[in-house]
Amino acid sequence: MKSHGQSPISVAGKLINYSPHPLLNLLSYVFFFVFGLTFGIILCFHYKSFSFNLQVTNGQFSIFTSRSLLNQPPPINTPPPPPSKKPTAPKTHDEVLHGMSERELMWRASMAPKIKEFPFERAPKVAFMFLTRGPVILAPLWERFFRGHRGLYSIYVHSDPSFNGSEPDRDSIFHGRRIPSKVVQWGNVNMIEAERRLLANALLDFSNQRFVLISESCIPLYNFSTIYSYLINSTQNFVESYDLAGPVGRGRYSHKMGPTVKLHDWRKGSQWFGIDRSLALEVISDTSYFPVFQKYCDGSCYADEHYLPTFVSMKFGGRNSNRTLTWVDWSRGGPHPAKFVRTDVTPEFLERLRSGGGGGGGGGCEYNGERTNVCYLFARKFTYNALDRLLRFAPKVMHFNR
Ligand SMILES: *[C@@H]1O[C@H](CO)[C@@H](O)[C@H](O)[C@H]1NC(C)=O
Ligand SMILES: *[C@@H]1O[C@H](CO)[C@@H](O)[C@H](O)[C@H]1NC(C)=O
Ligand SMILES: *[C@@H]1O[C@H](CO)[C@@H](O)[C@H](O)[C@H]1NC(C)=O
Ligand SMILES: *[C@@H]1O[C@H](CO)[C@@H](O)[C@H](O)[C@H]1NC(C)=O
Repeated sequence: MKSHGQSPISVAGKLINYSPHPLLNLLSYVFFFVFGLTFGIILCFHYKSFSFNLQVTNGQFSIFTSRSLLNQPPPINTPPPPPSKKPTAPKTHDEVLHGMSERELMWRASMAPKIKEFPFERAPKVAFMFLTRGPVILAPLWERFFRGHRGLYSIYVHSDPSFNGSEPDRDSIFHGRRIPSKVVQWGNVNMIEAERRLLANALLDFSNQRFVLISESCIPLYNFSTIYSYLINSTQNFVESYDLAGPVGRGRYSHKMGPTVKLHDWRKGSQWFGIDRSLALEVISDTSYFPVFQKYCDGSCYADEHYLPTFVSMKFGGRNSNRTLTWVDWSRGGPHPAKFVRTDVTPEFLERLRSGGGGGGGGGCEYNGERTNVCYLFARKFTYNALDRLLRFAPKVMHFNR
C-alpha cells in the first residue's frame, strides 16, 4: 500500500513540474484532485473502525485493531495469543514439552511410517507411562530399576495440573518427563483422556515400541532386562478383558451406546495395560468408540474399566491376551483393592507375586503360546512407607543388581 500510495503523487508531481502546456497543467491538477478524493473515500470506508490499541499483557506488547477485538474475548488478564504454530516435519524427539493443542497432538501422534525399515540404528524402547496425582512416590525404587538401561526406555509422567512439587533433580530419570496434563478424577472418563494423552506423547518418539501404563503405587516385580524382553518379545497385547454379568459388569452398560457398542460387546478389565505400537496408534486414533464413552459412560460407569477392554475386544481381540500384567489384591473385598504398607513387604511376599500371583493357586498363564509362571510384571498398591523395605529387598529378590 505504501508504494502504491506514493506512485500517483510522484506521477502527478512530474506532470506539474514538467508540463510545458498550461491546459495540460490544469488537467493534471484536476486529475490529482479527483484521484486524491477517491482514494480518501475508499480509505475512509474501508477502515471505518480502524484504531490501534497498544496493550501490555504479561510484559509483552501486542497490537490489536478494534475489529479483531470485536471477535475476541476481552484481552485483559488473558495471555497474549500463542505464536502461530506451523506444523514442522515429524521427528523423533525425546523432549516431552511441546506447544501442541490436544487435537494437534493426537493428529501428529497418529502418523505411522509406511516404510517399515528404519533408516537408522535404533533399539526398540518401552514407554513407561506414569499416571499419578502428585509425585511418583516410589521414584527411588524405579531409579534403581532403570539404572544402567538408558536407551531402552522412555518415561512419561501425567500428574494433576495442580501438583506444584519441585522438579526432580537433573540426574533423575524423571527430570523433565512430566507431560502437559489436565485434571483427572478417579472413575471419570477424563482418566481415559489422560491415558490417551500419555500414549500420544509417547508415540511421538518413533523408538517406543511397547507402552505400559503404571500407577503411582506400582512396583516392578522383575529386573529391567526381564521385563524389557517380556514386553518387546510378546506377540500379544495385555489389555484385560472379560464379560461379567451383574451390576458392576454388564450393569454399567447404557443402551444409549447402541448401535456403536452393543450389550454383548461390553467388557470389563483392569485399566493397567501393556500394548504395542500398532494398538497404541489405534487407541489414540479412535474417533468412533471413544466419543460414545465420553458421552454415555461417565461417573459411576467407570470408563477406565470398560473403554479399552470393550474397544480392544471388539476391534483387535485376536491379538489380545485378555489379561493384565499388573497384579492387585481384590481378595479383601470392597470397591478398592488392598494397600500394602511397610510390614506387608517381605521377601516371601515378593517371591509369591513373582511366581504367578498372590492366590497361591498357581497354574501360571500363557505367553507366546507357552505356559509360564511369569504372569505379572508389576504389582500395586504400595504405599510410600513401604519404600524403604522395597529398596532393601528388591535388589536381591528381583535381581536388580547387574
Ligand atoms: C502448592 O499447592 C498447595 C495446595 O495445592 C498450596 O498449599 C501451596 O501453597 C502450593 N505451593 C506453591 C509453592 O505454590
Ligand atoms: C526375544 O526372544 C528371542 C528368542 O527367544 C531372543 O533371542 C531375543 O534375545 C529376545 N529379545 C529380547 C529383546 O529379549
Ligand atoms: C481374547 O478375547 C478375544 C475376544 O474378545 C478373542 O478373540 C481372543 O482369542 C482372546 N485371546 C485369548 C488369548 O484367549
Ligand atoms: C534379571 O533377573 C533374572 C532372573 O529373573 C536373572 O536371570 C538375570 O541375570 C537378571 N539380569 C540382570 C541384568 O541382572
